[in-house]
Parts: sequence; structure tokens; C-alpha cells
Amino acid sequence: MPDNTLRNRGLTIGYVAERTGLSPSAIRFYEEEGLVRPDRNDGGHRRYARSDIRRLSFVMISQGLGFTIAEIREALADLPEHRTPDRRDWARISRRFGRVLDERIARMQALRARLDGCIGCGCLSLKTCALYNPKDKARSRGQGPRYVMGDRSDEI
Ligand code: FES
Repeated sequence: MPDNTLRNRGLTIGYVAERTGLSPSAIRFYEEEGLVRPDRNDGGHRRYARSDIRRLSFVMISQGLGFTIAEIREALADLPEHRTPDRRDWARISRRFGRVLDERIARMQALRARLDGCIGCGCLSLKTCALYNPKDKARSRGQGPRYVMGDRSDEI
């Protein structure tokens, strides 16, 4: 009697690599990061679900958009392991990522506007330059590059 469990009829890593354009080592890396969870067949070889091709494509696209592995893992956490993600699944994730991207774009545009004032100037004036951080004043707002993160020097 043929064994029709997913474990023994799933996709090989070579096939998934060919379909996604990823190297097998990259696919194993994504597995280590918990982004795909292949089964093992009776011989101990990885066997992937067809939906894993979509998951991996989503991972590649998300990384291209600047999302971290942790952010991608969190977005995929609610998706079922071996069911092909449906339109509603992707729409929900797209909305979530869209909001994050909108915030990042707004932050970059604000930074770009501040940079416009500095181009050709170079004064790095302690009093007037919006990008400069005299006496590490911005530290009061927390860790990281505060002006790049959206804080304004005239509000500190
Ligand atoms: S370098 Fe002169 S205003 Fe920023």
C-alpha cells in the first residue's frame, strides 16, 4: 500500500531551491530561524509542503523590503504549517507590513527634509543644525540615533 503521508510525498530541498531561487543552505538557514518547518521522510530527508514555496518567497520579498528575520517570523507565526496560506492570510500580513513601511517612509522623508537643509552647508552648528546632536542631548530620549528615529533637536 502506498504511503501518502506528507512526510513521504513532500517536496525535496532541491526542488524547493529550484522553485524559489534560494540555495539549499539558505533554505536550511530559514529552517533554523523557524520560518519553515519541513517534515522528515522515513530516510531522514527534509520534505517540504507546497505552501513552503510561498512562505520562502514571502520571506525573500519581506527581506527585500527591509524587514528583519524576527519581524518576518512574527508575521508568519499565525499561519498554519501545512495549509497553503489563503488570500485573507496574505492580506492581513500585507496590511501589517504596509503600516510599518508607511511609518518608515514618513521617518525617512522627515530625515530627508532635514538633510536638505544641511546639503551644501556643512556648518554642523550646535544651535541650528537639525541633524547634529550637541553634547549628546538626544540621549535623554533613549538609545539609538534619535534624530534618525524621529526625534527633533528643537524639541529636546
Ligand atoms: S550642516 Fe548646517 S544646518 Fe546642518
